[in-house]
Formats: sequence, structure tokens, C-alpha cells
Amino acid sequence: MNQAQPKSKHIYWHHGKLDAADREKNLAQKGAVIWFTGLSGSGKSTVAREVELALVENGKNAYVLDGDNIRHGLNKNLGFSPDDRKENIRRIGEVAKLFCEANVIALTAFISPYKDDRNTARALVPKGQFFEIYCEASLEVCEKRDTKGLYKKARAGEIPEFTGISAPYEAPSSPEMILHTGTESLEESTRRVLDLLQEKGII
Ligand code: ADX
Repeated sequence: MNQAQPKSKHIYWHHGKLDAADREKNLAQKGAVIWFTGLSGSGKSTVAREVELALVENGKNAYVLDGDNIRHGLNKNLGFSPDDRKENIRRIGEVAKLFCEANVIALTAFISPYKDDRNTARALVPKGQFFEIYCEASLEVCEKRDTKGLYKKARAGEIPEFTGISAPYEAPSSPEMILHTGTESLEESTRRVLDLLQEKGII
């Protein structure tokens, strides 16, 4: 399913008349991909939504791509096998890249458990515009929260291949930022992400 080259042969890249610098001239922001990763219930979507709100309220263009939501549409044909997760992340990496090229700040909230897949997504975006943010909350904390009741079901054997229980999670080794979402407040995490974007010249 994952191939380096397109399946079709007679297709040609069509170049537009605008490059990133042309687009940036009209907006006080750069495109970026803010890639949140972490266990289910670690707070990825919650922080992403809060950052999105703060950015939009400040006149910036930002958009959250969220695992549960995208699996209702674009990725509704994918499950949670290693291959399906890989394809899930590959597609989202490509979509986030398009948002970035359109000068939007894309905030992705997917478990994205495999290092290789996250690195593939990173490689699609220009250097300095991809931020891997690890929502580091322990399994104990996430399981205790169990906001969707899924850990309970996974422990009961009702959900196979559940991340942290019966499927792996590979923590990032050098993310741009670690959010201690098990202990720090939502306000604090949000502020730290916004500060990072400012410091790195995205906003
Ligand atoms: S990923 O591993 O492919 O990146 P993704 O972020 O899209 O996962 O979806 C994770 C969400 O799907 C979880 O937050 C949870 O609500 C739900 N889910 C359902 N089944 C599983 C499973 N087997 N493992 C992890 N999450 C699951």
C-alpha cells in the first residue's frame, strides 16, 4: 500500500505561480505543522484545540486535524493494525503538508505511535516548520482518566491492539517540545506551544 512512487505513470507535476514567500507576504504567519503525539487520553486534542482557538482569536489561520474525526471521513476505511496506522499517518502527513504550503498552521492530534511514521511526516515539511510535541502523560494517568471508557474495554479484551495495553507506543527521542500533560495545566501547555511558535518565527 505504501509506495515511494505514484502508481500511475503518466502524471506530471504542475507548478503554480506562487511560492511560500509570496503567500507569507500577505499574512503575518508562516505555515507550520504542529504534530502532537502521545497515548489516547494524553490531551493531544485538548491542547491542539486550545492552541487553535488562541491562534484564530489572534487573527492567525490554524486548523486541527484530529484522529477520531479524520477516521470518520478521509480515513474511515482504516483500522488499528500496524499497516493501517502507518497509512493513517502517511495520509495525515500529506494533508498537513498541504495545509503548511497553503500557509496555515496545521495542528495534528494523532497517537502516531511509530517513530518511523512520524519521521516520514516530518520529512515532508521544510526544516523549521515541523514541531513534534510529545504529550507525555503516563499510561496510569491516561487509564485513570479514561475519558472515552476505552481503556476499560481494552483491559477486558474487547478492543484488540489498543495502544499502551496491547499495542506499542514509541515515545519520541528528540521532540521539539514535551508537554507534561499529566501534571501541568492546560493553560500552561497552551502557553508553552504559543511561545514556541513565536520564538521560532511562525507567528
Ligand atoms: S493512530 O495510532 O493511528 O495514530 P489515531 O490517533 O488515529 O491512532 O486514533 C486514536 C483514537 O482512536 C483513540 O484516541 C481512541 O479514541 C480510538 N481508538 C479506537 N481503537 C483504538 C486502538 N485499538 N488503539 C488506539 N486507539 C483506538
